Amino acid sequence: MKPYIAPSLLAADFTCLDREIGMVNASEADWLHLDVMDGRFVPNITFGMLMVEAAKRLSTKPLDVHLMIVEPEKYIEAFREAGAEVITVHQEACPHLHRTLQQIRATGARAGVAINPSTPVDTLEDVLEDLDLVCVMSVNPGFGGQKFIYRTLHKVQQLKNRLTERNLAALIEVDGGVGPQNAEVLVRAGAHVLVAGSSVFGAADPLKAVSILKNAGQESLLV
Ligand code: DX5
Ligand code: ZN
Repeated sequence: MKPYIAPSLLAADFTCLDREIGMVNASEADWLHLDVMDGRFVPNITFGMLMVEAAKRLSTKPLDVHLMIVEPEKYIEAFREAGAEVITVHQEACPHLHRTLQQIRATGARAGVAINPSTPVDTLEDVLEDLDLVCVMSVNPGFGGQKFIYRTLHKVQQLKNRLTERNLAALIEVDGGVGPQNAEVLVRAGAHVLVAGSSVFGAADPLKAVSILKNAGQESLLV
C-alpha cells in the first residue's frame, strides 16, 4: 500500500494560500495537515479555526488537524465545524484521553492521538481501540523544518506490532522532519501517513516532492 501524504501548511507561503493549497489539490497528496499551536502546549502560536475554515474552502483534500494546544476538549466541536476530517490531540495534553477520543468520534471526525518524542507507545495501550490514528512525533512539536529524530522510528514498528496483534486498523502517522531521505524506511517500518512541511513546500518542484514521498517504499516496477 502506498502511504497517505499530508503536506503541512505550516511551511507554505501564507501570502498566497490559494496558490499553495491549489498545489496540494493538484498533487498526489491525500490530506492537508494543519498545525494549530497555542503558545502554551508548545512554544509557538500559529492559527485557529478561522484558518481551518479558510483552508476548507480552498482544499479538495480532507483536513488533518493537529491540535498542539492545552485543553483541546474545549475546541473539538469548533474545529469539526470548521471542516476538520481528522482531529488529533496530544496524549500529553489530555488527562481524560479516553473521554476526549469519544468526544472527537461523536462529532463524526476521525480521532487521532499524537505522542511527543519522549512519550512511549505504552501510554496508548488502553485507548488503542478508541482511536483512528496515532501520530508519532519525530521532532519536538512547535516548529517546522527540524531534524528528524531517528530514535522515534522504533515507535512506528512497536505500534505496527501492537495494532497487528490486536487486529486494529488505526493509521500510523509520522510528523516532523519527513522527506525523501527517510520516507522509505518509515513506510517499511509501518507508517501509513507521512506529514511533510518543508520537504514539500520548500522543494523546487513541490508536485514532484509529493510524488516521491507517495511512491516511497514501493517495489520498483523496473527489472
Ligand atoms: C511540528 C508540526 C509539523 C511540522 C512539520 O510541530 O507538527 O506538522 O509542520 O514540518 P516539517 O515537515 O518541516 O518538519
Ligand atoms: Zn503536525
